Amino acid sequence: MNIAVVGTGYVGLVSGTCFSELGANVCCIDVDKEKVSKLKAGEIPIYEEGLQEMFENNTKAGRLTFTTDLRDCLDDVEIVFIAVGTPPNEDGSADVSHVLDVARTFGANIKRYTLLVTKSTVPIGTAGKVKDVIMEELEKRGEEIPFDVASNPEFLMEGSATRDFMKPERVVIGTDSERAKALLTSLYRPMLLNKFRVFFMDIPSAEMTKYVANSMLATRISFMNEVAALCEKTGADINHVRQGVGSDSRIGDKFLYAGCGYGGSCFPKDVRALTRTADENGLKMKVIEAVSEVNEAQKGIVYEKLKAALGGSVKGKTIAVWGLSFKPGTDDIREAPSCTVIRLLVENGAKVRATDPIAMDNFRKVCGKGVKLCNTLLETVEDADAVALITEWKQYRMVPWEEVRRKMKGNVIVDGRNVYDPDEIMTYGFFYYGIGRG
Ligand SMILES: NC(=O)c1ccc[n+]([C@@H]2O[C@H](COP(=O)([O-])OP(=O)(O)OC[C@H]3O[C@@H](n4cnc5c(N)ncnc54)[C@H](O)[C@@H]3O)[C@@H](O)[C@H]2O)c1
Repeated sequence: MNIAVVGTGYVGLVSGTCFSELGANVCCIDVDKEKVSKLKAGEIPIYEEGLQEMFENNTKAGRLTFTTDLRDCLDDVEIVFIAVGTPPNEDGSADVSHVLDVARTFGANIKRYTLLVTKSTVPIGTAGKVKDVIMEELEKRGEEIPFDVASNPEFLMEGSATRDFMKPERVVIGTDSERAKALLTSLYRPMLLNKFRVFFMDIPSAEMTKYVANSMLATRISFMNEVAALCEKTGADINHVRQGVGSDSRIGDKFLYAGCGYGGSCFPKDVRALTRTADENGLKMKVIEAVSEVNEAQKGIVYEKLKAALGGSVKGKTIAVWGLSFKPGTDDIREAPSCTVIRLLVENGAKVRATDPIAMDNFRKVCGKGVKLCNTLLETVEDADAVALITEWKQYRMVPWEEVRRKMKGNVIVDGRNVYDPDEIMTYGFFYYGIGRG
């Protein structure tokens, strides 16, 4: 099957590459000319385990190609996936202008029945807008060409994106057309052999499912962060509480970790966008509004702890920051807690020495001002007064504490992800501060 995927970010590039791995001929499109010429030259702009190999195999086999203009391959494809960004507007709603741009090009250029599928996360009702834009374009042309619009929200997680895509727990497809259903069933058939579940539903339900899934996960995190604050007041340890609670099969043990807040390109914006959709429909969703509020405050918690541990001010102090990406396994720093913590430190006169296994380039572009970026953990701690762990990369779990202690001027460790054993750390003469650990 020939398909097009518009947008070559995390979702578009991973989806396009994985579909080609499953045998489809995939044309990937992006308006970013530099990105496309790098992709054509074999350079992948993001890090995802396993992506490089699949990318190389399928570009070599001619199943995966890149261009800057959807019109280059529109005549040859049966399905066009939209995987462009839907960044937040100032009022928290999702900006769907890129999605509608693609719909416009689609409507202005299709020559025969083609299916347009939204994979980007879009507010409930967007498929209707997409359809209207296509109809307008067809009317301008004075032509009646059949088409369908469907919703196929993507649930992959950065850091495990290729695995999530190839072995999804479920695929959600919103459509009111039997023809679209048949096309998508045959595209996803290789995966159907793995017996994962496909849920067909109406389009608004599919669009809503994505927002509710992300908002539910974000709610668990913010809830546990509030519980962590109470643990600190009462002498309880959030790690014990998490284990006790998470072993209840009705609750489950995922997304229950207290820490310095969630970030990334999805949870923050999707939670805010759901709140906006509720507003627009005359509803107030108090729970989900509180989830965002708690998270924004939580992103500053490591700074607050450093300040308290360093005698009420970070001015003139040197802080080593471990981890910049919003979570391990990705180089994405969008809405990462590291940016909030480092901004607060720099604004308040601290010197910051930071490191990350793969996200330093992205960090440098967006919020690296006034920060010394170092290649290793040991380099960051030279003359440092305190260490702050922000991203729980595996390689930061076993730390040569004795050496760290020797290189540091001070002895404060703020563990923003609760990965270290306080008893062990204190034997090296450190003061340990976790999140919600009594
Ligand atoms: N990142 C994730 O983990 C994830 C997971 C599930 C769903 N989503 C959703 O998927 C969508 C894409 O997310 P992402 O993280 O891949 O975004 P991204 O910002 O990494 O990539 C988007 C790409 O779209 C391109 N683009 C923008 N307008 C275009 C146009 N008119 N034509 C062609 N290309 C265009 C941009 O140049 C960019 O390369 C968003 O709606 C997001 O919420 C993201």
